Amino acid sequence: MTGDVYPVPAEIAENALLNNEQYLEMYNKSVEDPDGFWGEHGKRIDWIKPYTTVKNTSYDYHNVSIKWFEDGTLNVAANCIDRHLAERGDQPAIIWEGDEPDQSKTITYKQLSDAVNRFANVLLTNGVKKGDRVTVYMPMIPEAAYAMLACARIGAVHSVVFGGFSPDSLAGRIEDCSSRFVITADEGVRGGRTVPLKENTDRAIEKCGNVDKVFVVKRTGGNINMTEGRDLWYHEEIEKVSADCPPAEMNAEDPLFILYTSGSTGQPKGVMHTSGGYLVYASMTHQYVFDYHPGEVYWCTADVGWVTGHSYILYGPLANGATTLMFEGVPTYPTAGRFWEVCDKHNVNIFYTAPTAIRALMGAGDEHVTNTSRKSLRILGSVGEPINPEAWMWYHNVVGEQRCPIVDTWWQTETGGILITPLPGATDLKPGSATRPFFGIQPAIVDAEGNFQEGATEGNLVITDSWPGQMRTVYGDHERFVQTYFATYKGLYFTGDGCRRDEDGYYWITGRVDDVINVSGHRMGTAEVESALVAHPDVSEAAVVGYPHDVKGQGIYAYVTLMEGLEPSEELKKKLVKHVRAEIGPIASPDLIQFAPSLPKTRSGKIMRRILRKIAEDSFENLGDTSTLADPTVVGDLIDNRQNRA
Ligand code: WT7
Repeated sequence: MTGDVYPVPAEIAENALLNNEQYLEMYNKSVEDPDGFWGEHGKRIDWIKPYTTVKNTSYDYHNVSIKWFEDGTLNVAANCIDRHLAERGDQPAIIWEGDEPDQSKTITYKQLSDAVNRFANVLLTNGVKKGDRVTVYMPMIPEAAYAMLACARIGAVHSVVFGGFSPDSLAGRIEDCSSRFVITADEGVRGGRTVPLKENTDRAIEKCGNVDKVFVVKRTGGNINMTEGRDLWYHEEIEKVSADCPPAEMNAEDPLFILYTSGSTGQPKGVMHTSGGYLVYASMTHQYVFDYHPGEVYWCTADVGWVTGHSYILYGPLANGATTLMFEGVPTYPTAGRFWEVCDKHNVNIFYTAPTAIRALMGAGDEHVTNTSRKSLRILGSVGEPINPEAWMWYHNVVGEQRCPIVDTWWQTETGGILITPLPGATDLKPGSATRPFFGIQPAIVDAEGNFQEGATEGNLVITDSWPGQMRTVYGDHERFVQTYFATYKGLYFTGDGCRRDEDGYYWITGRVDDVINVSGHRMGTAEVESALVAHPDVSEAAVVGYPHDVKGQGIYAYVTLMEGLEPSEELKKKLVKHVRAEIGPIASPDLIQFAPSLPKTRSGKIMRRILRKIAEDSFENLGDTSTLADPTVVGDLIDNRQNRA
């Protein structure tokens, strides 16, 4: 079951920051003496007023409270920019690769400083104050990074909303954190198509109101409406201000950002991260997990709309003075060779992507890869979902030509940074395993009752103590934070993931154990898709589950009961898919819809999802006990009309 082992390649071992002995020594220190360990490593960033306390955290269910370096002050943007200027002002901070292969540009640390200072001044002159929430709804252009860093510079809290979300989703997120400012672009460009970001913003504001100012970056020059007195062109505003904006002195525990993420119930939660601990953790993981050496070009293919973009395109790399590549496009445009062509074009040394992209490219044929050199590549990374061994082997053999260690990094929006991962020079790899904990991380596996399972075992993954990058609360709802993460197993942080630990102590994430599905590395709450479906006038009831999907990892399978008298049809299916896209966004589109006259329920009316999951997986031979169903005959109809036939 543990599979083959891939030892650290000799060339990597020679220059790596850490070997296995050093990893073990540091790891042991980090868990035996967290105050000593983080007290030392907290100094990796610049503090305005140094901290005198390190860890002050409680997982006690009645009093969950997480504070790190709490009397220190700092500015996150100054750490990502100003402190590098003397030594690497002319070094590229961001390499931007546009959607079209002939578009790219380089932004040095000096240029980044100029742009961020100006944007910060634009925000200030337009009334944005410390602590205000600023919604960022942007394509993958350098101005998205400027916007986030400008907020950090003045102590405003950014809430980035992925550009693929609908006006409704955007409105909900603007409203939830009462954000009076939005930063967007006229249009985004992805895979040769435009995304109407400003139009979506206008529609969102119609719904939620209360937005005072919209800052609009010109990306395409497409036709948009500008509302007098509310909407401002970024390129005009930055001309009116100076390129000098002193960084605000922020407390370590002042919020840096809010990022909405789906859970098993209700609407998305505003995951709140603060300044000091987050930056220490993001920068330290970036350095050690990717074995980052000064001067290297590092590329994370995520979107800044997700936490991966926050921690590993922006904050971690820039805090380390790295060169970070930002890609506007998609892996398959104009061809399935794009990633590797970009690696050659910009001499990328470290490449970090998601299994869904690897699987899609694997299916497009090896010649797209082998046509390119990739000789600059040193380290490969994977994130977002379990990587199946076939995809791992292809990534390792074809992309990395067996030279490049693959760091399979397990973490979550809530964790702020990577928690379980190999380190390139220290960890022997096993395809499909995220391997071992990072410094300060104490994973444990519990059974359904919360009993610790020792040795080689399988169960639910919990973390027993805090680390600096951990989320601090759900914005505006601390009780929801406590209930979501600390109530299932009292005194422990519950990840929502299932996990196996092998005899070598390696961790193998097996996927979510709650009603969350992972579609192409994006987290989707089944409850959210269900509520979008039942909002349609033709739908009386809906139940959504995940099922195995060759490229996406999991696909979205929706069981829909129509209103009395309505006839199922292919046309209606299309209408419902369109409706969900409009309500949430394309990432929530159901892959399969099954019209069901009724759903399997217990006598108390609870939908039995276990049965629905099995049927969606096309493995209904062993449905378990169905005797508690109110009407056991519904199961036969569901099986007969199942949509996923292998
Ligand atoms: C969920 C978190 C962390 C940034 C991207 C997703 C799954 C994430 C892995 C991995 C297996 C993984 C988990 C986790 N996940 N990385 N390397 N191996 N599963 O962030 O949207 O907050 O989703 O993604 O199920 O709980 P997210």
